[in-house]
Amino acid sequence: VSSTDMDRLQGISIHIPSFLKVGPERVIMGSVFTDWYSKYENFPVYQDDTWVVSYPKSGTTWTQELVWCLINDPKSPEAKLELKKRFPFFEFDSLISLDLDTTDIRKDDPMCPGNTWHIVQNLSAPRTIKSHLPKELLPKQIWQVKPKIVYVCRDPRDVCVSYYYHYIREHGYKNTFNHFVQLLLDDIMVYTPFWQHILNFWKMRHEDHILFLRYEDMKKDLAAVVRQVAAFLGRDVNEEQVSWLTHHCSFEEMSKNPAVNHETLRMAPTQEAKAIKFMRKGKVGDWRNHLTEEQQKAFKQWTLKYLQGTDFPYYQD
Ligand code: A3P
Repeated sequence: VSSTDMDRLQGISIHIPSFLKVGPERVIMGSVFTDWYSKYENFPVYQDDTWVVSYPKSGTTWTQELVWCLINDPKSPEAKLELKKRFPFFEFDSLISLDLDTTDIRKDDPMCPGNTWHIVQNLSAPRTIKSHLPKELLPKQIWQVKPKIVYVCRDPRDVCVSYYYHYIREHGYKNTFNHFVQLLLDDIMVYTPFWQHILNFWKMRHEDHILFLRYEDMKKDLAAVVRQVAAFLGRDVNEEQVSWLTHHCSFEEMSKNPAVNHETLRMAPTQEAKAIKFMRKGKVGDWRNHLTEEQQKAFKQWTLKYLQGTDFPYYQD
């Protein structure tokens, strides 16, 4: 990563794996990082695992809660445990912040670096694991063992707005919205290249162990997605259960549910951060309230550049 890119990323946390081996434009970091990364690369994968994979802010938490409730008993006491314990964030321990001034990591938080890996390693079967890693950086065994993977994507313009607020809330991001937009469009934001992330799973969407979802479809008809995910996971659900799950996973219900609303996630010690909730708006098209015409044009150009020659039909308007 060039020093200019590093400068531009001030205030942004990065996951070291994002800087490993993804695309020719990424620099492979020194062997110390590669050795350190091998714990992720060589992580043992089981057939009865279920992974939820996404680019951040695409509806990951939403999908996780739905998947968990379909695999487990949503009325059991365990369902009240925080999602980050039931469905841990695989590579969370690789989180490092480039802006130490705003890093205020709580040692008692299971999401803190050092603590999550312990949870991941001690999960009992059937395991449910969340990751934002791109295909190339997921554990190698995933592609041999082929556990079920539910991938969820979202309009990058809404992802960008949601991620911007996420960074203000959790990391005290101070730079401008425009600067943030450019980090995503220049593919130096964490977990980018964005389109490569999505397209790699889109290409695999017909494989038996992959289910490709879209945030917008979940918003449009959650009951239909509940049935789709249940069928994919091989769970029989009756209409009463579909209706219960649709209600339980609605934005209103999840916002009130301390097990999933991430109210306990680390927050930056600023006034601005305090005003932002993890369960922020939960809408399709909030980008219309944020992107200037120029930014919209830039998004369109960037999208068309990556989607040219692909059969991915969304987000090109
Ligand atoms: P907004 O910031 O646009 O509100 P992730 O879990 O991948 O970090 O995604 C977070 C985004 O998903 C946030 O978007 C959040 O509000 C939204 N979200 C979470 N649960 C939701 C639900 N039940 N219905 C709609 N949106 C939801």
